[in-house]
Order: sequence, then C-alpha cells, then structure tokens
Amino acid sequence: MSPHAITQPEPGFVLTPMKKSPEERHDFGAVVEGLDLNNISDADVKALADAIWIHKVVVVKGQKDLAPIKQWELVTRFDPEAPQVHSHGDIKSFNEKGGVLSTTREVIGIPGAENLRLVGKGYQGADHYGIKDKTIHKALSHDFHAKELPEAEFAAGYTRFQRWHMDAPLYGRDPAWFTTLRCCRRPRADRGPVTIRWDDGSGLEMKSEPGLTAFFSNVQTYALMTPEEQRMADHSWVEYAPHPYMWIADCHGRPNGLGLETEGREKRIEDLGDFDPAAVKRYSMVWMNPVTGEKAFQVHGICARKLFVRSSPDQEPHVIDDVTEIRAFLKPIQERVLSPEYILLPSLEEGDIVMWANWQMFHTAVDYPISYGPRTMHQANIGASIGPQGPVPIPAMT
Ligand SMILES: [Fe+2]
Repeated sequence: MSPHAITQPEPGFVLTPMKKSPEERHDFGAVVEGLDLNNISDADVKALADAIWIHKVVVVKGQKDLAPIKQWELVTRFDPEAPQVHSHGDIKSFNEKGGVLSTTREVIGIPGAENLRLVGKGYQGADHYGIKDKTIHKALSHDFHAKELPEAEFAAGYTRFQRWHMDAPLYGRDPAWFTTLRCCRRPRADRGPVTIRWDDGSGLEMKSEPGLTAFFSNVQTYALMTPEEQRMADHSWVEYAPHPYMWIADCHGRPNGLGLETEGREKRIEDLGDFDPAAVKRYSMVWMNPVTGEKAFQVHGICARKLFVRSSPDQEPHVIDDVTEIRAFLKPIQERVLSPEYILLPSLEEGDIVMWANWQMFHTAVDYPISYGPRTMHQANIGASIGPQGPVPIPAMT
C-alpha cells in the first residue's frame, strides 16, 4: 500500500461517470452508489464534496430512507464554517424578500428540518414528513416567459426551460458551493417524454422524462469563448442589484429560459425598501473551481445591475448600467452553450439525490402537465463560508 493510500483512504462509495451518446458534448455528471447518507463518515463527506467539484453534477443513488434532518446535516457538513441557515434565509424572510423566487411558487419548510424545502407539484400525500394533505397549486411553472407557451401545447406535452440560474441570494449571503435535491416522488415516466422547446427562433428542442432538472456547465461556456473574451471576463466583474429578486419580481423571461426580456418592468431601486450597501454583491465574471482550478463564466444575468468591463488589471473599467445593454452583452456569450448537446437532464428515481457544483453550473426546472402525476423534492443548500474568487482580484468597492 502506498503512503498516499494510507493518508487518503479510498472513499466508501463507488463513483461512475455518466454515460453519454456520441452526440452529447457535455463533460460533467457522475453516479454514486454504495453510500448511506443517514450514516456518512467525515472522510466520505470530504470525498463526496470533491466528487461534486470534479464532476459538477452527482446523483447519489438509493437514499429513499434518508431522514430530512440528515440531508440538512450533510449540507452543513459540506461547509461547517457557514452560518447554519439556508442560503436564502429562513422561510419567513424568503417569502418576504424572495421576489420572483417566492411569489411565483410555494416553498414549504419540512417540519423539524425547516432549512430543507419541499418543492413540488400537485398532491403531496396524506402525511409527508408531517405535512398533511397538502396540494401545491403554485408550483414551478412555465408561465414565467414573456410569451407564454399556449396551454393546449403544454397539455400536449410541450414545455420549456423555466429559468436558467444558479442558487444564489446575490445579496448578503454568498452563494452555496453545492445544492442538494432529493427526489421523493416523481411524475410518471411511462406516459412518455415531454418535449422541451426553445421557442426562440432557433428551432431547437429536446426530449426529457417529466419532472427533471436541466443543467449546463459554465466551465464549458468559458471554454466556448474566444481568447479575447476570456481575457476580458477574467478581469471584469458584476454588481448585482440589492434584493435582486424583488428588483425583477415583475419581469418575464425569454422563451429559452436564459435571461430576461427587456420590458422596462424592473422596479426602481428606491422602491425596494431599505437595503444595506455593504450587502450588495460584486463578483468577478469568472469563478474558480477550488478543487480543479477550472474557470466558469458565472454571471447571473437576470440579477446584474452593472457590469464593469476591462481586459487588464490596470485598465479603467467600462461601466454598463443599462439592462438592455447588459443583456445584449451577455446573451451571445451565454447562449453558445444553450444547445441540446451541452445540456444534461439526469434521470432520478425516487430516493435519488442530485447534488451539483452551484458555482460552476446553471440549472433550471422544466415544468410538466399535472396529468403525469405529482412531484415531491427536498432541496437544501447553505450560504457559503467563503465567497467565489475570480482569477484576478477585483478592486474594493468605493
Ligand atoms: Fe435552483
């Protein structure tokens, strides 16, 4: 046995990279088997965290008996220095300040593990971990788009990406390193797939089992940029709006789910109520993967209020503070990866839990007609103890 093997024991689980067809060009995704998250060692928590940073999206199989509090405990063990609350705060503050995130859907804390959130659709059962006879009518839905998918087409099994994003408050707390999402109940796959349409003039579409989450990698977004664009992104940064999801609460999305339509519906900053200027977030456009060193073009465009663009450390930044120009700047860069071959919709069986590197990925829900049956998911993440770092330090806020 080598000294390396003694100091770094083999993880107590089996990890297998996900298979892909020759047409698929995404470079992430792995499946973990042989792990019981009710009873996981510190060494395996560390090994699992490394696996998420490396593979970006990891499906841990067979967690049907996972106690809700154990999912939350796992999240806290991933980042023990973090404040012990969901990255979007408690349910009360989420519902008050969550803006577009909370007004458009119903999110419920699991009794006894309130930082774990029930997200889903339809009837949740007679007693779901103490939630009795609950039907979620206001689910994640396809009505966020400015030009809505006609109801008859939705009922016929056509759908769209809802809203591409990372899980990030972008005000106060730093975005979670990882998000965990356990599938408790999934809609019926035996009725055939849904068809996700871009509806943006590209003609693109792809099929999916109903009720899944879609992912693309912003490491791949970065790789698709020209060297000049990469140099610019490495040196540039973004200022996010205070209470950004309240700011965009009345806005609508583009039909492919990536970015907002410009309709002049952003709220005035002075109408957002009190905010702490010190809690406003400025992040580099590029975020480093702390384990692999990879760079991701990680700009949450829908919440961006100002871009500071430069291509070297000593250049005076060009400030873009008009949302039309911000969107025109980001769209051609971020849409390159928005193509079926770069998108993964990992299949989840009931009891599987998907975990992803939130600093490297964008994800979105994909709505489905309720005729496929209800969906029940448990979601948790924690505001990071250390915020994202770019390849080049950005100047202090003045
Ligand atoms: Fe999310």
